[in-house]
Amino acid sequence: MTQKVSLTRYLVEQQRVDGLIPAQLRLLLEVVARACKRISFAVNKGELGDVMGAAETQNVQGEVQKKLDIIANEVLIEANEWGGHLAAMASEEMEGIYVVPNRYPQGEYLLLFDPLDGSSNIDVNVSIGTIFSVLKKPDDHPGVQEADFLQAGAKQVAAGYCIYGPQTTLVLTVGDGVAMFTLDREQGSFVLTQENLRVPEDTKEFAINMSNMRHWDAPVKRYIDECLAGKDGPRGKDFNMRWIASMVADVHRILMRGGVFMYPWDKREPEKPGKLRLMYEANPMSWLVEQAGGAATNGKERILDIEPTKLHQRVSVILGSKNEVERVTGYHAEK
Ligand code: AHG
Ligand code: MN
Ligand code: MN
Repeated sequence: MTQKVSLTRYLVEQQRVDGLIPAQLRLLLEVVARACKRISFAVNKGELGDVMGAAETQNVQGEVQKKLDIIANEVLIEANEWGGHLAAMASEEMEGIYVVPNRYPQGEYLLLFDPLDGSSNIDVNVSIGTIFSVLKKPDDHPGVQEADFLQAGAKQVAAGYCIYGPQTTLVLTVGDGVAMFTLDREQGSFVLTQENLRVPEDTKEFAINMSNMRHWDAPVKRYIDECLAGKDGPRGKDFNMRWIASMVADVHRILMRGGVFMYPWDKREPEKPGKLRLMYEANPMSWLVEQAGGAATNGKERILDIEPTKLHQRVSVILGSKNEVERVTGYHAEK
């Protein structure tokens, strides 16, 4: 009988055999996974638990918070604050950073997360998820401040997401490819189900919210028009479309079978660079996609090279199958 590899064993081997991750980072990833397990069970309860619907609060982005946004945020904080592996956390649902309280030891890592991605899908029983990114705290000064988080995505030391769909699946990179783990509910543990995920370089599938078409910039419009023209158009092939409205689920599909995902800048709110957030949505997803052989840009430059200036800064996102991302990025350059 082939033995199943648990997330714990996978991480221990990454630490011991390959020397890829320090012990503190291993602990951090285990704790994040444990928190995701708890969130998964809360999501699963649905109407049977007090988890559906809106809370009476707004987050820093002015969005109405759902109960699950708040629950997931609290679960991640409670799970991570006492272990000694973190200096501070930052979240879509908190305006400032959350420094590990004095009563606990302070570690050398910084954790950023979108506790619940795809909030509009919670109440309609469609896949949602948690996205996370891990950075090292700069060691040139004592204590921790918000500026310590403002590091380019290329500096991430771990990134991943957990998708709460028909299965609960954790997808992870520590810079050595992408591995996928499925939650075994009977055992209560994540089990390695796929290693070395690869995004095909070509695709016939795109993901974009088409209702924003009239607001798009010319290069995005050109790319989608050409896809829609199908076999008789300049691309010479028919394209399929998907839009789940949970970045986690759209990116998961791309990691499984390829595709291109776009949430570009548009003219609705021209002063905003895009809708999605750089630090805890675009950066971790871009690194995962790159680690699987795909690409990610904002139309002009590699997302992972963007030097952040604000914790909650937004960014235009084009990611997925390499040749398609390069094509859309090329159309921006031609403009
Ligand atoms: P969040 O629920 O964390 O605010 O993120 C939602 C994001 C992303 O997951 C998704 O791709 C996008 O918003 C959907 O936006 P539209 O509803 O504009 O399509
Ligand atoms: Mn999100
Ligand atoms: Mn969210």
